[in-house]
Amino acid sequence: MKEGLLISDQRTQASYEIPIQDGTIRAMDLRQIKTAPDDFGLMSYDPAFMNTASCRSAITFIEGDKGILRYRGYPIETLAEKCSFLEVAYLILFGDLPTEPQLKEWVGQITHHTMLHETTKKFLEGFRYDAHPMGMLVSTVAALSTVYPEARHVQDPEIRRLQIMRLIGKMPTIAAYTYRHSLGYPYVYPDNELGYTGNFMNMLWKMAEPRYTANPALACALDILFILHADHEQNCSANVMRSVGSSRADPFLATAAAAAALSGPLHGGANEEVLKMLDEIGAKDKVPAYIEKVKAGQFKLMGFGHRIYKNYDPRARILKWAADRVFEVTGRNPKLDIALELERIALEDEYFIKRKLYPNVDFYSGIIYQAMGFKPEMFTVLFAIPRTAGWLAQWQEMVEDPEQKIARPRQVYIGHAVRDFVPLEKRSAAPAPVKA
Ligand SMILES: CC(C)(COP(=O)(O)OP(=O)(O)OC[C@H]1O[C@@H](n2cnc3c(N)ncnc32)[C@H](O)[C@@H]1OP(=O)(O)O)[C@@H](O)C(=O)NCCC(=O)NCCS
Repeated sequence: MKEGLLISDQRTQASYEIPIQDGTIRAMDLRQIKTAPDDFGLMSYDPAFMNTASCRSAITFIEGDKGILRYRGYPIETLAEKCSFLEVAYLILFGDLPTEPQLKEWVGQITHHTMLHETTKKFLEGFRYDAHPMGMLVSTVAALSTVYPEARHVQDPEIRRLQIMRLIGKMPTIAAYTYRHSLGYPYVYPDNELGYTGNFMNMLWKMAEPRYTANPALACALDILFILHADHEQNCSANVMRSVGSSRADPFLATAAAAAALSGPLHGGANEEVLKMLDEIGAKDKVPAYIEKVKAGQFKLMGFGHRIYKNYDPRARILKWAADRVFEVTGRNPKLDIALELERIALEDEYFIKRKLYPNVDFYSGIIYQAMGFKPEMFTVLFAIPRTAGWLAQWQEMVEDPEQKIARPRQVYIGHAVRDFVPLEKRSAAPAPVKA
C-alpha cells in the first residue's frame, strides 16, 4: 500500500502528493502548496501543539487511550516494582538497563557529584526566609552554569555526560537545602555511604543525631515516586528543555528553564494545588458541592485530566498502592478519604466521563508527600528531582539528532499592516477596548 496523502487545493485546482511516514506528514511538505510563485506557501497552525510531533524520540512511549506508559520499552509497572531510581535514570539516559558493573559505576559517579560548591550554598542563603522552594531551585540550578563554564560545550559527549552526572547528583542536595533554608535549619552535607533517596532524606531531616537512618519503607516509596516521575515524553517542561537547549544554551540553564515550566499549576505545580484543594474542601461530605462548582466552570479539579491520557493514568494507580505502604508507617493521611471520594464521584459523573477526565499523577502524590512530612511547597521540587533525568535524556537526544535545529515556530500575523507614524504631540489615546 502506498503511504501518501493527496491534497487538492481548491484555490488553484492543483493537487499534491505528500508522503506519510510514521503516521505523520512533514509540515515543510506543505510549503510547496502555493497560490502564486511569490506566495510563501501553506503552513500548519497548531496553538499549544495539539497535533504536532516536534521530534522523533526513542525514550518514552505513552498510549493515552489505553493508559500505557513505557520507558525505553519497559512498562512503568515493571520498572517501579523491580528497579531503583538510578537504574531507571540510566535506562532513560542511555537506552538500556545497566549491567551490574555499569550500575555500580553509575551510582558511584552520581554519588561523587552530590556536593555543592560552597559559593552555591552561600547563594542559597541569600533567599528570603519565605522564598518558594521552586523559585530557589530554578535560580540555583541556573547559577550552577556559572560554576561549570565548560558545560557550554554541548557538542562534546564527554562534557555532556559530566554535566548529566552533576545535575542528577546535585538536584537532591539543592532540593534539601531549599527545605532547610525555609525552616532556618543548618544545611546537612551529602553522605556518600547512603543511597540516592536515603541520602536525600538524610539531608532533609537529620538534626542532632550522629547518624540519621531513613525508614527503609519510606525511602523505597520515595524511590518508586521518583521512578514514576522520571520522564513523560514531550510534556510542557520537556519541550522547554529541548527548545532552550536547541539554542545551545548549557544544560544547567536549559534545566532551570524546564524546572520553571514545571512549576506552573497546570503542570508539576498541580500536586501543590491538589493539597490546597483538599484543604479547601475540608470534609468528605463537602465533595458533591465542590464537584458541582467544577462542573459549573468555576475552577478545575486539580490533579484531574491530561492532554495525552484519556484513561486512568497508570502512574496514579501505582501511587495509590504506594500510598498504602507509606500510611502503614506514617498513619493514614485523612485527606485520602476526601481524595477517594472526589475520585469516586468524578468517575461516575457524566461531565468527567464525557471529557475522559481521570486522576493524573499529581492527584495522589501530594497526599503521600504530606504523610512523609513534606510541606506542599516542596511537592513540585520533589517532582523536579527525578524529572531531571528525563529532561537530560530529551536534551541529549535533541543535541544528537541531525534533523534538529534551533526551535523557532512560525506565526500567523494578525496585527496592523504598515501604519503612518504620528508624532508624539499629535497622538490621541486609542479608544479603550470594548468589554464583552
Ligand atoms: C492537564 C490539563 C492542563 C490538560 O489540558 P488540555 O489538554 O488543554 O485539556 P482542556 O483544557 O482542553 O480540557 C478539555 C475539557 O475538559 C475540561 N477539563 C480539563 N481538565 C479539567 C479538570 N481538571 N477539571 C474540570 N474540567 C476539566 C475542560 O474545561 C474542557 O472542557 P470543555 O470541552 O467543556 O471546554 C487540564 O486537564 C488541567 O488543567 N488539569 C488540572 C491541572 C492538573 O492536574 N495538571 C497536571 C497534569 S499532569
